[in-house]
Amino acid sequence: MTAVAHTEPATARGAALRATSLVAGYGDLAVVRGLDIEVRAGEIVALLGPNGAGKSTTLLTLAGELRPLGGEISWFGSPLTGGLHKRAASGLGFVPEERSVIMSMSVRDNLLLGSGGIEPAVEVFPELGALLDRRAGLLSGGEQQMLTLGRALARRPKVLLADELSLGLGPIVVDRLLAALRDAATTLDIGVLLVEQQARRALAASDRWYLMRRGELVASGDSSDGMDEIQRLYLAGHDSAD
Ligand SMILES: Nc1ncnc2c1ncn2[C@@H]1O[C@H](COP(=O)(O)OP(=O)(O)OP(=O)(O)O)[C@@H](O)[C@H]1O
Ligand SMILES: [Mg+2]
Repeated sequence: MTAVAHTEPATARGAALRATSLVAGYGDLAVVRGLDIEVRAGEIVALLGPNGAGKSTTLLTLAGELRPLGGEISWFGSPLTGGLHKRAASGLGFVPEERSVIMSMSVRDNLLLGSGGIEPAVEVFPELGALLDRRAGLLSGGEQQMLTLGRALARRPKVLLADELSLGLGPIVVDRLLAALRDAATTLDIGVLLVEQQARRALAASDRWYLMRRGELVASGDSSDGMDEIQRLYLAGHDSAD
């Protein structure tokens, strides 16, 4: 992977993606209210919170799958409009909660579907190199998630939204996925908004965090010293941060 020279830290730069007073939901029902979040190039931002907090709804709305009910979303300072495909074409990647590999197709053909090509994905996950001719349905859950994430990163998004990469996976492969994401964010200057149930792991891989509960942002901070505060806030809401 080629390193991109950083002349300034991510914190000194403007937002790549920013939501201001975002209201999101289904039909007329707002399940996310007044959300202010931003992601800058090269940083991983963890979006944490208990089940039903509104994390997936937020990502679906940022990705263009759901229409916002209020507020604004900006992309490098300009209003972000259009649906999923238009946003993807301008460099907004999205890995949804449900795995989106086509089980009946080979790993190679799944990668070709992503339009980023095979080589950049294998660069991120060399494990995929030996699996190219295998049907995706025969891969382990972890390998399928490497395929999904490798394909998304191969497109060289400017910002990647990733929802629960760790769902149903063991700790070793989750650490592998998060390490690859960390490496890609840093070397390719990709901003990442990472929804994750495993707060401790998410903090270890990220630069900053936001905590949502019942559709609202309740706290945010730097990942280096976030665990105590997050645990306290989770305990206050009787949920577990792990
Ligand atoms: N299609 C839908 N129609 C109506 N309400 C929905 C729909 N999908 C989700 N919701 C509701 O929106 C709220 C937020 O859900 P969301 O999936 O965004 O939470 P989440 O933080 O991603 O939770 P989890 O950690 O369980 O994935 C919940 O109360 C949920 O029941
Ligand atoms: Mg969710």
